Amino acid sequence: MTDDVVIGPLDLAARVDEALRVQALAFGLGDDEVAVRRQIVLRHLTYPGARSLGATTPDGRLVGFVYGMPNDRAHWWSTVVEPYLRAQGTDGWLDHSFVITELHVRPGYQSRGIGRALITGITDSAAEPRSILSAIDAESPARGLYRSLGYADLACQVLFPSAPKPYAVMGAPLPLRRPGAH
Ligand SMILES: CC(C)(COP(=O)(O)OP(=O)(O)OC[C@H]1O[C@@H](n2cnc3c(N)ncnc32)[C@H](O)[C@@H]1OP(=O)(O)O)[C@@H](O)C(=O)NCCC(=O)NCCS
Repeated sequence: MTDDVVIGPLDLAARVDEALRVQALAFGLGDDEVAVRRQIVLRHLTYPGARSLGATTPDGRLVGFVYGMPNDRAHWWSTVVEPYLRAQGTDGWLDHSFVITELHVRPGYQSRGIGRALITGITDSAAEPRSILSAIDAESPARGLYRSLGYADLACQVLFPSAPKPYAVMGAPLPLRRPGAH
């Protein structure tokens, strides 16, 4: 982990524009998508148990963030993935699970252990015994990170309305696996 970046609680509602700038640079969002995401993030933050961690430089710049919440089968994300998981017999993962909704690290700060520290930190304080998330269904740094933490595929080729690429839904027992542990 880089020693000049601090991981800590983030008031995501207050810093939503900075966070979306990080996401736009990391994930490639256009201005119109940022505006849509802004409303979605602010709505998510009203859900019970929603919380966030940020990665901040000594001069206070946000360079990474994660947020998530206890899963609720009534939430939109859960209703989209449920039939795919049910077809695989894995939909029990939707109960008693902490969902990672977004995780992004600004290019230039990636591959220094910040993403791992953010997702491990937020799930370490979860009361749930497991965690679920969705990631684009292709090999990527994100997919490699999630596998190294113990996340395994629960369903693949999951289509979200309006998303051009299929996603994989992954789940891991908590606490997440540490490097070197088996
Ligand atoms: C995915 C992401 C959050 C990871 O954050 P990060 O700070 O770069 O990741 P870390 O430095 O903590 O790396 C942890 C692990 O990720 C994997 N990883 C990181 N960079 C990688 C790369 N360039 N190629 C392959 N694997 C990589 C490795 O498994 C790595 O573990 P290791 O360092 O022990 O080998 C970051 O790359 C990112 O923001 N990507 C773009 C946005 C995105 O895809 N977000 C996730 C949406 S589901």
